[in-house]
Amino acid sequence: MIIAANLKTNLTRVETQKYIKELEKCVQTSQTQNEVLVFPAMSSLLEHKGKVILGAQNAYATKNGAFTGEIGLEHLEEFGIKTILIGHSERRHILQETQEALVKKFNFYKALGFTIVYCVGEPLEKREAGKEEMMEYISAQYEGIDTAYENLIIAYEPVWAIGTGLTPSLEDIEQIHTALKEKSQAPLLYGGSVKVANAKEVLALHNVDGVLVGSAALDVNDFCEILKN
Ligand code: PGA
Repeated sequence: MIIAANLKTNLTRVETQKYIKELEKCVQTSQTQNEVLVFPAMSSLLEHKGKVILGAQNAYATKNGAFTGEIGLEHLEEFGIKTILIGHSERRHILQETQEALVKKFNFYKALGFTIVYCVGEPLEKREAGKEEMMEYISAQYEGIDTAYENLIIAYEPVWAIGTGLTPSLEDIEQIHTALKEKSQAPLLYGGSVKVANAKEVLALHNVDGVLVGSAALDVNDFCEILKN
């Protein structure tokens, strides 16, 4: 299983250092076989050698250059980062990243062999519009993406379930994951209000290969509980 923490715009560098240290301890003592990924805020990226793998929440499709406010490959290389999150709904919807821009970013980091956690998921109005429209919406997020890329991990995250405490039913998650597995054989994570109380049952579902955790990962003890499952 792949257990990933998206720390978003939380935890300073000092707090992240402490977090990773404690998480590493948890991974070692629990002897979990799970693959553990953590995406800290950009200014909290650090070089880490251990079982926990650090990734970037974002980076521009460039080595360096004039892209105010962005970081590029050089900034990731400085910390030995080889994993990146692309297409998170907060970047699609709040930061207005288009599918075209995401594809460009995807191809750039794919060419460098990065592990890419690529996120897809529907907003509430698409879910309410019925299964067909919802699947069409999600399918459009696969456009231009090399679904056979060997270092690809996909995360299905319904937008309405992110940070809201709401989750689809277990049956729904399994059904959607099964449909999405037909689009790509890549490991498929579920994300959206995963917490200690529901992680085990989500992880037990067919075609769920892991979870991407936001809010509940901010407390390292909770995240540790989740990855022990
Ligand atoms: P959440 O966030 O666990 O707070 O719902 C998940 C995510 O955005 O990846």
